[in-house]
Amino acid sequence: MKNFRHFLKQTLNGVYSGVGSFMVFGPSVFLTLATSRLLAEETVQEPAFGDQKWKLFDVSLDTPMNTISGLTEWSRDINHVYLITTVVSVFVFFAVSIPLCYTLYKFREKPGDQSIPKQFHGNATLEVLWTVIPVILLLFIAIPTWRVLFKHAHVPENALHIEAIGHQWWWEFRYPDNGNIITASELVVPENTPIKFTIWSEDVIHSFWVPKWGGKKDALPGHKNVLTMSSPPLKDPSKKGGELYQGQCVELCGASHALMRFKARVVSQSEFESWTQTTYTPPRVETASQRAGEEVFVRCAACHTVAGTPSEQIPGNKIGPNLTNFGSRTTIAGGTRPNTAEHFAAWVRNPAAIKPGSLMPNLGLTEQEIADVSAYLRQSTNKQF
Ligand code: CUA
Repeated sequence: MKNFRHFLKQTLNGVYSGVGSFMVFGPSVFLTLATSRLLAEETVQEPAFGDQKWKLFDVSLDTPMNTISGLTEWSRDINHVYLITTVVSVFVFFAVSIPLCYTLYKFREKPGDQSIPKQFHGNATLEVLWTVIPVILLLFIAIPTWRVLFKHAHVPENALHIEAIGHQWWWEFRYPDNGNIITASELVVPENTPIKFTIWSEDVIHSFWVPKWGGKKDALPGHKNVLTMSSPPLKDPSKKGGELYQGQCVELCGASHALMRFKARVVSQSEFESWTQTTYTPPRVETASQRAGEEVFVRCAACHTVAGTPSEQIPGNKIGPNLTNFGSRTTIAGGTRPNTAEHFAAWVRNPAAIKPGSLMPNLGLTEQEIADVSAYLRQSTNKQF
């Protein structure tokens, strides 16, 4: 018994000092894989603030954000490298921990045995081996990594060009080759198309990411980064409005970093064509409420633009999102709330309650004015999807 306790104590000492860090690795890989599988089934998103829960409409492909089961070639290539790295790491884990545990047991101190183990210094064979083996293992990881990096550094001739610009705390998307469309918080792309994203920031460092598409690129102030990838194919090409993916800023960028989200909408080629054609339709002003809303919007025009209206003539660099065809967007407030009259009113009433630190001020509009500007901006003529 005494012998066993002695052995246990020694083993534990060895484990704590030697393999503690390795022990964390194996279970964490399995936990990551298991939880991402479980989370992929979940479809209800916790609201950022307030006590309501809402269904994330048809965001069924990607809720919550899951990078393990990617849908683009880019993300499959990344996961392939990730898998190789995992296999090599698991191999190293067992190659180190099994001999270590064996050695701890085999050469433990035995009661009554006062002899000192054989003392020696240096072993050329061993030293060469534990230099060469890690080099080979690292090459196993490095070669596929280089291949993927070089493969995706190439920008195809026919790539769709989109500019993704980070702001505290929302994303702006511009389509310089498609009539200079400017939109916010909702990226629209045709399926199966090579895309060249040019990414930068207007203030602090942000990072552009649609987890299921793979890739990820920092948005830096004063420097343009390029990210090239092909959009995923549609799972159900007959579905009107295509399929939505969740996007998220992944660089801590201030108080509302976690609320800097966006939707990435993949549509068919023909739907994309019609979106680029009709997206500059100015809002219709037909009802009394829309007329009143148009008046209210004049007070918003120092920061926001709606194409085809006098707000376009106001000079200067507008700090708020471009609200052209606002009615066609699924979300408001940096992709954090559904675009409904109720959420729109809550946002305009007090933006800071929904997104702390937001530059959008509380304009002190009356409930009637909020309803009118909602009728003007959120009208169904602007709904493409
Ligand atoms: Cu922008 Cu985090």
